[in-house]
Amino acid sequence: MLKKKEKYVVAVVGATGAVGNEMIKTLQQRKFPIAKLRLFASERSEGKVMEFGDTGVSVEKLSETAFQGIDIALFSAGAERSKTWAPVAARSGCIVVDNSSQWRMDPDIPLVVPEVNPHDLRWHKGIIANPNCSTIQMVVVLKPIHDAAKIKRVVVTTFQAVSGTGQKAMDELLQQTTDLLSFKEVKCNVYPYQIAFNILPHIDKFLENGYTKEEMKMVNETKKILGDNSIRLTATTVRVPVFRCHSESLNIETEKKLVPNEVRAILSGAPGVKVYDAPEKNVYPIPIDVAGSDETYVGRIREDESIENGINMWIVADNLRKGAALNAVQIAEKLIEMS
Ligand SMILES: NC(=O)c1ccc[n+]([C@@H]2O[C@H](COP(=O)([O-])OP(=O)(O)OC[C@H]3O[C@@H](n4cnc5c(N)ncnc54)[C@H](OP(=O)(O)O)[C@@H]3O)[C@@H](O)[C@H]2O)c1
Repeated sequence: MLKKKEKYVVAVVGATGAVGNEMIKTLQQRKFPIAKLRLFASERSEGKVMEFGDTGVSVEKLSETAFQGIDIALFSAGAERSKTWAPVAARSGCIVVDNSSQWRMDPDIPLVVPEVNPHDLRWHKGIIANPNCSTIQMVVVLKPIHDAAKIKRVVVTTFQAVSGTGQKAMDELLQQTTDLLSFKEVKCNVYPYQIAFNILPHIDKFLENGYTKEEMKMVNETKKILGDNSIRLTATTVRVPVFRCHSESLNIETEKKLVPNEVRAILSGAPGVKVYDAPEKNVYPIPIDVAGSDETYVGRIREDESIENGINMWIVADNLRKGAALNAVQIAEKLIEMS
């Protein structure tokens, strides 16, 4: 457990990346009690100075002794780095909140969304996993519905922003868009096909069962976070030419019948959720409005008229905030609260 202190030494590993940058911003915005901030990235970034409030913090490279004296480390430098360095950090007495996929399905490591399963923080052994971005926003919405009416099955289709792939993908979308509008040839480095003015039904690697890893992450992580293996879930994950915010179409079948107004009432009182649903006034969540927000926005709530107990909805959240940096910082805040 975290030792109670007035202020903590906090590290961000992967500080120069899309998520790392957002973590630094989120720590500052939420006035996290920081005694000292340490920033880590690859050797390429060593010595680079990054802003934190009105001070500059130099980026360091990782080493066996780097984590000594650090209380909490927020990792977002990819699974390989987490595999190597998270145990090193934990051995140094530091609590790791890891954004990569490395530890998520490890039965000895809790996978936590603070609004959904904060109790799982009690059994961590030094490493806590942050779920996949598309899973986080979905479970924040599923949890209160599951509590009210027991979910039997979910069919989800995602529309995911390029920032989910990192900074290089954001640069690629911008470059391809500029090139296309200038009648230049388009180059594809990050994705197998052009992403500008296109959509790709392909996120992460394809598996033997025909699904992608991202799709199976949504299936498996949801069960672990909700602590219920009986929920059936099937996913199709799609990359769209949007910079920020993942959108998801959810079809939810419940044991007990819920009508749309009941769902609106349940979700209006749910932590981390904002109901934004007035179709008669064209009010529904869209990525450009939700970017930079902390909540998962829900709209288009309506009955699935093809089954007995079904609800359809459209949810949007900022993948870099709730899908990554904010969730990690909220976990760290909960650890302090529980210490
Ligand atoms: N983007 C999202 O929405 C999202 C959501 C949830 C989880 N995640 C996860 O978060 C992680 C980072 O994602 P991102 O989108 O921020 O990627 P990114 O923009 O590509 O950033 C990667 C970061 O990792 C650092 N890094 C690379 N190699 C390293 C090494 N050998 N040693 C130390 N640091 C190294 C990079 O440092 P340099 O700048 O020095 O190369 C950079 O700071 C990934 O595991 C990803 O799966 C991302």
